[in-house]
Amino acid sequence: MDIRINFDRILSELDTLAGFSDAEAPAVTRVVFTPTDLQARAWIKKLFEEAKLLVREDAVGNTFARWQGSQPNLPAVGTGSHIDAIPNAGRYDGTVGVLGGLEAIRALQEANFQPRRSVELLVFTSEEPTRFGIGCLGSRLLSGSLTAEAARALRDREGQSLEKVRAVAGFRGSLEEVPLSAGYYSAFVELHIEQGPILEREKIMLGIVSDIAAPAGMRIWVEGEGGHAGAVLMGQRRDALTAAAELVLAVESAALSTGVIDTVATTGVCDVFPGAVNSVPSRVRLEIDVRDVEEQRRNAVLELIQGAVERVRNKRGVAIRTELLNADPPARCSDAVVQVLTDACCAWGCSAIPMISRAYHDSLFMARIAPVSMLFIPCKNGVSHRPDEYAGPQDITNGVGVLARSLAQLASGERTIGC
Ligand code: HGY
Ligand code: MN
Ligand code: MN
Repeated sequence: MDIRINFDRILSELDTLAGFSDAEAPAVTRVVFTPTDLQARAWIKKLFEEAKLLVREDAVGNTFARWQGSQPNLPAVGTGSHIDAIPNAGRYDGTVGVLGGLEAIRALQEANFQPRRSVELLVFTSEEPTRFGIGCLGSRLLSGSLTAEAARALRDREGQSLEKVRAVAGFRGSLEEVPLSAGYYSAFVELHIEQGPILEREKIMLGIVSDIAAPAGMRIWVEGEGGHAGAVLMGQRRDALTAAAELVLAVESAALSTGVIDTVATTGVCDVFPGAVNSVPSRVRLEIDVRDVEEQRRNAVLELIQGAVERVRNKRGVAIRTELLNADPPARCSDAVVQVLTDACCAWGCSAIPMISRAYHDSLFMARIAPVSMLFIPCKNGVSHRPDEYAGPQDITNGVGVLARSLAQLASGERTIGC
């Protein structure tokens, strides 16, 4: 089958999608359920309809674009990723998997391939933790990894509930109806930029993901005593920010203490109240991200952080409250799907290596209801979550071409995987 990727088309669509942003170009900011996100969703749905895909959305805004197979009752083959972007991000994280999935489907349609199994392209809601503090919200609900009740308890930074925000965005169904049954997909493949330096450094064209690292997220509130920066003497202070600063350094040393490069921890959010230069900080909110390919080691870091909380609480006489938002196990990808991707790389003429994904993805949760793997393409200098994130046209074309070949193989139904 002669599969031709129209890379002018996908490059121009990636450019258009990057234009739906609340940041100055080249940065992209597209936070879930903001007007910008909804405009981007509407534009993408139009592209799906132009490709004659059957489009539906679930109660949390996960979007499904289905290319009906000749045997529609068979479990479908899934692919897809996310289009939400953290503040001041790049334009390829997630979007390559969505527009690349669409391009792969269009290339197969143009090659007159007729799938036996339906091929379903997903746009997951809120892969990024930006708004509700927890990543992969849509795929957690789809895979039954987060209950509807726990989702209803989620609040954004302004204290708005997920319920209210999604209803305003037009998603009103019951969250209880979101979970997919196991076996709904016979396989799931996600195309994504590597978000790391290995492929570019080793001059390898594609990565095939064997494992996805285990992420954890926590929030810490530090409550001290505010006051006039001139009048409150140093010995009388219960400064919430200096206490939080000790915790930030404790997070870093907890990760370094394992002595293993796979352990990482970041304090990415630090909100200071009241935030006036001449007022002693009375309240600080921290958001912390801890990951490792080994779950036990990751959990040991979380315990060290809790120990630091106790120490700083006693030493500085501040109140400290912690909330563990998520502590997920890593995912092991399906050997059979890895083999399909490997064969497709070979057929496309691409070098490929097996990789561990240090970033998490919706595939981390799709792995709980289907055999999954991921295809990585190189990104310049390994940079991501920054405006200078970049993936070259040839790399994107290779990723989409191999994805198309893989979807054809998985949808032909010749080799059943899992179910
Ligand atoms: O943070 C991550 O690993 C993903 O990019 N959301
Ligand atoms: Mn991301
Ligand atoms: Mn991503």
